[in-house]
Parts: sequence; C-alpha cells; structure tokens
Amino acid sequence: MSANTREKIDKLRQQLSEHNYKYYVLAQPSISDYEFDKMLEELIELEKQHPEFADPDSPSQKVGGTINKHFKTFKHEFAMLSLGNTYSEEELRDFDQRIFKQLGHRDYQYVCELKFDGLSISLHYENGELVRAVTRGDGVKGDVVTDNVRTIKALKTKLHGDYPPSLEVRGEIFMHRPAFDRINMEREEAGEVLFANPRNLAASSLKLQDSSEVAKRPLDIYLYQLLEKNETIGTHKESLEKMKSWGLKVSEHSKLFHNIDEVFNYLGHWDEARKKLTYDIDGVVIKINNYHHREELGFTAKSPRWAIAYKFKTEAACTRLMSIDYQVGRTGAITPVANLEPVFLLGTTVKRASLHNANEIARLDVRVGDYVYVEKGGEIIPKITGVELSKRKGELPPHKYITTCPECGTPLERKEGEAQHYCPNEEFCRPQVVGRIQHFIHRKAMDISGMGDETVEMLYENNLIRNMADLYDLKYEDVVQLDRMAEKSAQNLIDGIKASTQIAYPRVLFALGIRYVGETVAKKLAAKFKTIEALMSAGYEDLLQVDEIGERIARSIIEFFSKQSHRDMVSRLKAAGLQMENFEKEKEKVSDILNGKNIVISGVFNRFSRDEIKDLVETHGGKNAGSISSKTHYVVAGENMGPAKLEKAKQLNIPILSEDEFLEMIGTNSPSS
Ligand code: IVH
Repeated sequence: MSANTREKIDKLRQQLSEHNYKYYVLAQPSISDYEFDKMLEELIELEKQHPEFADPDSPSQKVGGTINKHFKTFKHEFAMLSLGNTYSEEELRDFDQRIFKQLGHRDYQYVCELKFDGLSISLHYENGELVRAVTRGDGVKGDVVTDNVRTIKALKTKLHGDYPPSLEVRGEIFMHRPAFDRINMEREEAGEVLFANPRNLAASSLKLQDSSEVAKRPLDIYLYQLLEKNETIGTHKESLEKMKSWGLKVSEHSKLFHNIDEVFNYLGHWDEARKKLTYDIDGVVIKINNYHHREELGFTAKSPRWAIAYKFKTEAACTRLMSIDYQVGRTGAITPVANLEPVFLLGTTVKRASLHNANEIARLDVRVGDYVYVEKGGEIIPKITGVELSKRKGELPPHKYITTCPECGTPLERKEGEAQHYCPNEEFCRPQVVGRIQHFIHRKAMDISGMGDETVEMLYENNLIRNMADLYDLKYEDVVQLDRMAEKSAQNLIDGIKASTQIAYPRVLFALGIRYVGETVAKKLAAKFKTIEALMSAGYEDLLQVDEIGERIARSIIEFFSKQSHRDMVSRLKAAGLQMENFEKEKEKVSDILNGKNIVISGVFNRFSRDEIKDLVETHGGKNAGSISSKTHYVVAGENMGPAKLEKAKQLNIPILSEDEFLEMIGTNSPSS
C-alpha cells in the first residue's frame, strides 16, 4: 500500500512539475488549469496523509510555507561581478576595438541578451536537485534564500536530461509589470506604501520571511550564466542551449552575432521593442561567445573584459535639489519628497520628485543643493536617479533624515525589515487623523456626498471633528456658520452624512481604515464574521480561517480592535446607525434532515454545481467540511473524485453517496425547492 502510494505521489509530482515547466517555461500548456488544480489537490491530499514522503522539491511546495527568521549567508565560489556599462555607441565601438586588439583577430562572436531589470541569483544544483539559492549580496557572499526561490513557478528544482552532477547557474529574478501593478493597487487600497518599481518589489519579496507570502508575489526568472567545473562546454550559446535542455528557463531573445554592426541592429531593435515586453529591461548585455576568448580577455578588478552592458537612455533632466520635505500618510508612513528647481521633462514641468525612504537617500548620497537627475519611469511621480557629483560645489553636508514627525514632533519608528519610517502618534498627528477621515468618506468607502477632502480639512481646522464618529454628531448650525459654507451646501453635507448610515457593512469595514484591510479583504471578513462584534472578538486562528487572510492581516486586525479608542469609536458609529452587520439573507432552513451531520462534497456533479450542493447541505441543517476525517458522516461523491479521498473514506467506513442518493436523502430535486 505504502509503496503504491509512494509511486502515485512520485508520478503526480513528476507530472505536475512537467506541466509547470510547459506552462511557465515553454508557454505551451497541454492541460487545462482545472485539470492541473485537480492533480495538485490530489497530491496535496496524499502528502498530507503521508508526511513521511515530504519533499521540498514537490510542486506542492510552490505555495511556500517555510519561515526564515534570518537568512544564512553563503560565500560565492566565484564572486558575482558586475558589468561595465555604457550608454554610447562610440564607447561600444571602443569596447569592440579593445577586444580585437587583445585577441589579435576578428574571428570572434558576440551573444547579445536582454538585460533584465531584477536581482541576480545563483542557483546550486547537486545531482540535478536544487540545493541552494544565493543572492548576489556584496558580490562575495550573499543570503541563502532557497525556500523563497523555490516558490518561483518557472524554476525547475529538479533538472532533466544530461546535467552534470554538480553545477551552478546564475540568472535574474524579476516581476512582470501587470503583477506589479496589481500588487501596488492592492497596497493602495489598504493604505500601504507603494513599491517604486517591479525591481524593488521583487527584491523585497525575495527577502520575506514567510515563503508562503513570497508565493503570492509572482516572480519569474531567466538564467543566463552557467558555471560548470568540468569545462565540457565551449561557448556561451552552447551553455544556454544546455541549460534549456535541462529544463531551465532561458530567454528566447539571446542571439549570436558575428560583428559589432550586427550588434547595433539588435540594440536598435530592442530600444523600441522593449516597450512591448511585459517586464522591464534596462539595456542589452553583449558577451563574447567563445570561452577560450573569454579566458584570454580576463577580468578587471570589478568586471569581465569580455562583456559589457549597453544601457538604453531614459529621458532624464538635471536640476537642482532645493529642499526635502516629508509627507505623512494616513497610516503614519513618512515619504521624503524632493523640491526641485522646475525643469521641463517629456512634456511637463517637474517640481517635485519622490525619494521613497531613508535608504534611498543614503544610497544616492543626495544632498540639498546638489544637481540631480530626474526621470519619469513607469511611476506616476518622477524619481531621482542620481547625483551629478561634478557639479557639487564645495562641501555640502550629508542629508540628515528626520528623527521626529514633521507634523507633530513625535519620535519616528522604523519596524525591523521595513524601509519606511512611521509616526506612531496615530491619535493626534494631524495628517493621520485627517487622512483617516478622508479615507472614511471616500467614494469607495462611505461615499458621503456633499463632502470632499477639503471639507474634512475645514471641519478639522474648526475643531468640529477629530475622528470619523464625530461626523455623525455634526449639526447644521455648526456647519453653516463656517466660512464659505452656503446654506444649501451645509444641508447637503448633513444629508449626505445621514444617508451614509445605509452603506453596507463590508464597506463600513473598509472605511474604518484598518491597515492592510482593503476592499476585497473587507468583503471576505464581512462574509465570515456577520457582525462587527463577531469580528472584534475573533481570535488570530479564527481570522486565519478566512480565505486570503494571512498572518500579517490577522495581526493588524487584532491590533486594531485591541485599542480601546477604536472600540469606542465603533460603538459610537454603531449608535449613530451605521450598518455593522451583514444583512445578506441567511439561507432559509428547509429541513433538519442533516442536523448535526458533517458532510464532505467532492468531485464534479451533473445536476447541480458544487456550490449548490453545499447550499443544500446547509439549508437542510448539515455542515460542510473540507476534508475527510473520522468526524465525517457522509461523503457526497461526484465524478472525478480524487482517489485519495475515496480511499480515505473507504478506510474510515464513511458512507459514500452519489449525487442522486444525496438528493433522494434530502427529498430535493432542484436547488430552489
Ligand atoms: S551577465 C559578470 N546577463 O546585470 C557578470 N547579467 O550589471 C555577468 N543582468 O549583476 C552577468 N540581465 O544582475 C548578465 N542577460 C544578463 C543580465 C545580467 C541582467 C544583471 C545581473 C548583473 C548585472 C550586471
């Protein structure tokens, strides 16, 4: 039995990993997502029943789950060097000329590759199995991030074909723009600081402690370097083909060229074509193809002489940094913003640019008074990408990051592992208080008509509101006496506030502005916890039961409701008549036939959908359970029920009902009867 199960598990693993490869590497899926999910489900179930067969290489592990408190470091056998780079065609011709001179002939080829804008990674395989993934770090030693890297769907953790027993491959981990946009949108909804670009998001993902969180950040990978000790391979092109034959993902855009003019064609093509890629590239890497030639050319202290990066020019402007301001968001996050001498760039005048956080200022070593380069990337706000040191006049003092809140003077805090500083004075720091109320009245939240961001500021300035609940105590007389407030507007405002008491519970939850609780999460919470009281008393484990709610969100909710001031505010809002329960109609009871019965639904049904069958279980008094255990009373089995489940039900002697038998049992023929 055990040997059979083992075989079954191995087979599923092998098939699933093959399908992952076809989907993510070859982009040629051969089965439907549904079929894939079914197989994966079956594997997960079998692995759950047989923990003795656990294997970190299993495709089931692509969802992560390992926690790394601290990453170990690892010394690279060969340092991870950087590349010399250039923006000019002339310098590229010089590079070619140097090669010609040093080799003494023109019989050499170049391989041109895209320069992926991500993070370099080194992967170590032993006997075809991934044993270690190490970041570049300082080039000499990096962090071991194997568990996180394993979650990358495009990465084969078990190679196939004629791989050498021990090998190291290097490549770039990155994120596609659509995934980046989606994650940033979710962060915006939840009031979190946004990532500046896909590269930063990929970098922060790779360093997350919980690999299941990493799995939610869809990363991708291209391999572009093979370090193979036996030197059986003669050219770079061959090495790319070899890597590909072992199942590793290499870019199909790498091309072999016979002279520098052909290289220029490639550059010209990609300067335009890169705009159509779903990921960012910042240039092209030009590498000598033949390994013997590479050896002859050798290295400088920092980079190989046999390769160079040609970077695409991005439109940039150089201007003076006048001062640095700090903005405080509604969650207390501090964002430094550069005030610039106005400069014209791609159609608009730029006066301000984001500096993201203290690390970024330190990295650029940007000082007030410097001439800086501003670029418009994919981001909305332009960013500062560098300092023109030749224009630095005399001694400018290094920039000192603020240590106290620019608005309220409270000492700032920075949580471990976070780049952003926060002002902890949630209750009295003006932009936080005002920002939270502005979020509350927002169209997607309480949608209070007759009220905008400026109204909130005015009411705050006039000491009429200090939190969201105060809105509901506002009286017409208070409002109408304000400057620039006509009678009609005052009445509209009061009416708008009153009308907002009809806004549904999920949106009220979102409006509360609990950190990380965006619109979607609020809906999920409201569906599970039908009243605010139920949510307020939910424990950590209860919260984790909810779909899509992970540890971070759960912790944030608990922290929010643990504050007396928040609980008081909720009470006041409730007293003001806000919707604090889910009035989604409870399914009407039809019978008690299934009272006290735990029922597992599995497979695909003919007459009803799975959800309809589950509804029937509930309307007849039963409970739907997710997995089979000794507490299960019945299994309702449709077609294609997973064999593992079937086996388990049989083992435990649990009655297995067909769809018809089940319907007969409850005396039902259609979902509405
Ligand atoms: S080859 C000796 N090929 O660019 C260095 N690098 O500035 C060999 N990169 O650290 C690197 N795409 O992170 C190489 N097709 C590519 C690349 C690439 C992106 C990155 C890599 C490296 C940096 C060098």
